[in-house]
Amino acid sequence: MYYSDEIIEEVRARNDIVDVISGYVKLQKKGNSYFGLCPFHNEKSPSFSVSRQKQMYYCFGCGAGGNVYTFLMEYENYSFQEAVQFLAERAGVELPKEEYSKEAKARADLKSVLLEVNKLAAQYYYAQLKAPQGAAGLKYLKDRQLSDGMIRAFGLGYSNKYSDDLYRYLKKKGYQDEILVKAGLIAVDERQGVYDKFWNRVMFPIMDVNNRVIGFGGRVMGDGKPKYLNSQETPIFDKSRNLYGLNRARTSRKPYFLLCEGYMDVIALHQAGFNNAVASLGTAFTGGHASLIKRYVNEVYLTYDSDDAGTRAALRAMPILKEAGITAKIIRMEPYKDPDEFIKNLGAEAFEERIGKARNGFMYSLEVLGRDYDMGSPEGKTEFMKETARRLAGFEEEIERNYYIEAVAKEYRVGFEELKKLVVKMAVQAGMAAPAARPKSGNVKERGKEDGIKTSQKILLTWLIEDEGIFSQISRYIVPEDFSDGLYRTVALLLYEQYGNGEVNPAKIMNHFTDEGEHREVASLFHTKIRELTTPQEQEKALKETVVRVKSHSIEEAGRNWEVSDLEGMERLMKAKRDLQNLQKLHISVN
Ligand code: GTP
Ligand code: MN
Repeated sequence: MYYSDEIIEEVRARNDIVDVISGYVKLQKKGNSYFGLCPFHNEKSPSFSVSRQKQMYYCFGCGAGGNVYTFLMEYENYSFQEAVQFLAERAGVELPKEEYSKEAKARADLKSVLLEVNKLAAQYYYAQLKAPQGAAGLKYLKDRQLSDGMIRAFGLGYSNKYSDDLYRYLKKKGYQDEILVKAGLIAVDERQGVYDKFWNRVMFPIMDVNNRVIGFGGRVMGDGKPKYLNSQETPIFDKSRNLYGLNRARTSRKPYFLLCEGYMDVIALHQAGFNNAVASLGTAFTGGHASLIKRYVNEVYLTYDSDDAGTRAALRAMPILKEAGITAKIIRMEPYKDPDEFIKNLGAEAFEERIGKARNGFMYSLEVLGRDYDMGSPEGKTEFMKETARRLAGFEEEIERNYYIEAVAKEYRVGFEELKKLVVKMAVQAGMAAPAARPKSGNVKERGKEDGIKTSQKILLTWLIEDEGIFSQISRYIVPEDFSDGLYRTVALLLYEQYGNGEVNPAKIMNHFTDEGEHREVASLFHTKIRELTTPQEQEKALKETVVRVKSHSIEEAGRNWEVSDLEGMERLMKAKRDLQNLQKLHISVN
């Protein structure tokens, strides 16, 4: 569905960004802006700003930024069209209805099409599972004791034995090969032609928090290899920002999540009533997963496999969780391999008991560490305590550190004060041993200059947007072409156009761009920090220097690209140089 620029702008204008974001993030007014904790990275003090005047948001910590559409695309994982639809409904704007023609389909935003294709594929696999040709798949799932309710809830399916039936099905629905390849559902190769990526596997559709299918995992029904085949990453499938089962776990209303390793574990846990279970998608746990979890809960119980690999993975996940401000506890599954097997053998009540007995993550990591030392000998135990002290030194909060020192002292029967001394010693040693930052080799100076001029151009754009007075004083000297970066130049052109029409509207400029990365960059252009630093005199000085720097750079560039035969160009260059001289004399006032 394509919406006109007018509609897109009307919907945007009728949804105040402060109101919309307040529904997701707690905001507090500070000066001209509202501030809160950034939902896109982990932080303890607020650097996420929302401006009613600019109708934009920007995070000074991680650089996330954009208008109200960008926010919903990033936060809710909406496509642009979905964001428009959501906000239109919110503001009571009626959107034009159009036939979804084949041409429109081809043109429409890639993400929406990929979502559509995935949904059709999931429905197809589900239908196959329930059809006679899917008997083997259904039997496999039944043998693993999955109920009909869970099969439906998780939308499990079956990719049957033909190697191109999904392809033919989607082709008939009008999708191009190119899209199906992009979705990761088919592959093309010279010898075999076009074939389905998944066949003769039970299928686990992977959904995002809004229940939209973004990818698949397919399991062989037996001992074949690979055991699981997973979709590759696509524009809608980012493995480090999605979790299996989160679409259900998010509404579980429990204060913690159970984090496990496998799709089967998640389903087995949900079936046993633990509807707060999630798993990463066949990849390691990342900071992206942690921030996602932090939107819903502050505590995670790890139920990783009890083998070596699972233990290591759990130990790796713990600091990532801690960094995000999430408390981690470890549930022991012994003597069973994973939650699925545990529950099959001992049942839900026994699992509930294990939750009750979960160990603090840090204490668990020490227990694992202890396996590497000869705890029976004084030397072994001393070395172990040193390493433990080194780890204790990693707790930045003194109160927390002392709690842990106390707990360790008790568990390993050493004196609190002695252990504390050792921790301090280790902290000092670690501080001294920290490697000094080394300058990066390569063309640092050139790159520094390039970044410098970009920063100047950014600052200038922020100024131009914030202060009409400045615009009227310098627009005679600085023209959009003076901005060297393509994106900066487009933004300047649009801004100058808006000033020409007597309406300055930064958020509307953003409508011009469709890509989240571009939104982010445009937002940063309008949020360069300049005001707080200085008095008006200093600001005026800084502004003038900035203007002169941008102009000089532009003249330099033009000179470099000038060709001897280009007389007009020559004249332009001369005029620019005269402008620059005048500029140096100009007094610019900042209000
Ligand atoms: P079951 O054996 O069916 O019970 O699987 P499980 O859910 O217990 O999975 P397992 O513990 O073996 O693996 C955990 C997760 O790692 C799976 O859910 C997959 O996401 C991923 N995984 C496992 N095997 C493979 C594989 O062969 N290839 C890929 N790409 N991922 C795998
Ligand atoms: Mn398993």
